[in-house]
Amino acid sequence: MITTHHITPEELYESLKTIKVGGTACHYSLKKCAELVPTINAINELKEEKNAVILVHSYVSPEIVYGVADYVGDSYALSKNAMETDADVIVFAAVRFMGETAKVMNPHKEVLIPTALDGCTLADSIDAATVRRLRQQFPDYTFVCYINTTAEVKSECDVCVTSANVYNVVERIPNDKIYFLPDKLMGQNLVNAMYALGVHKTISYYTGTCYVHEEYNTEQIFRIRTEYPNVKVVSHPECNPAVVAHSDFVGSTAQMLAYMRETESREFLMLTECGLSSRLQKEFPNKKLVGTCTLCRYMKSNTLDDILRVLKDPAPADRVVIAPDICQRAARSIEAMFQYSRS
Ligand code: 13P
Ligand code: SF4
Repeated sequence: MITTHHITPEELYESLKTIKVGGTACHYSLKKCAELVPTINAINELKEEKNAVILVHSYVSPEIVYGVADYVGDSYALSKNAMETDADVIVFAAVRFMGETAKVMNPHKEVLIPTALDGCTLADSIDAATVRRLRQQFPDYTFVCYINTTAEVKSECDVCVTSANVYNVVERIPNDKIYFLPDKLMGQNLVNAMYALGVHKTISYYTGTCYVHEEYNTEQIFRIRTEYPNVKVVSHPECNPAVVAHSDFVGSTAQMLAYMRETESREFLMLTECGLSSRLQKEFPNKKLVGTCTLCRYMKSNTLDDILRVLKDPAPADRVVIAPDICQRAARSIEAMFQYSRS
């Protein structure tokens, strides 16, 4: 028998009322919560009925994060959740490549993606044919791909990394020649991090960027530091090296949250997508967010209505399908990441 707890509009409002970032789309009134609750309850019922798990990236809208998610996290944690789940169906509310990673780890499970927009500026910046060409140009290099790539691109690379482990993994790769793709700014940050650690490697990188993170600049940091001398600046490694150099902490979205939890300071400038800022407002009500944040149109294209639709009656485009040989080769690069992260 299904025993799903039905949330009330008042409970949802209580949980979301402190969130005030990301434009009116992420502001909640009791009336708006009353409109959202029937869909949330229908999703949670269907989830139990179908033995489905809903994995959600922190950048996705708060009503999804706090209304229906089973796990919320960064790409590293979510790929581990995808690997370890015993659910029959995985609904991945994030971007397509994250759903593809879940499918690569679970080729026999149904993986559904509710996002209305495919890809993202970073994942779209490179395709498999380009990686094959680069491999001919750089024959002795270990090819390291960021997790923000398609399964096809991962299948052409040796090791996958996420923002949570890129420096550790690259440091442990025995080859001293590394080709990193597709993020140019993360590639530059990788060069700087290896230099700071005293690790000698020749690192080349591709030209892609994330349109959300490349926008941040040092002027924003200096302006905020002048106004709030005690502020902690927290940035993502997809930001440019000057921003990284002037940050108090740099890490994956989960590491950024952990830093805020553990840091005494009360004021934070978050140089990443607004989803993290809304988590800060909800989960750390005694801390203050200063400055603004930016929305990722790809992550924010996930809606409760689409989650309900894919659970009820998925269209062919909602199902992640990957050819078995690509799945096997992409899995090798992801397993290599887990191997190096453990060693
Ligand atoms: P994280 O793995 O740090 O959550 O980053 C994902 C992402 O898309 C950043 O733009
Ligand atoms: Fe892609 Fe940037 Fe959005 Fe992350 S924030 S999904 S890298 S466009």
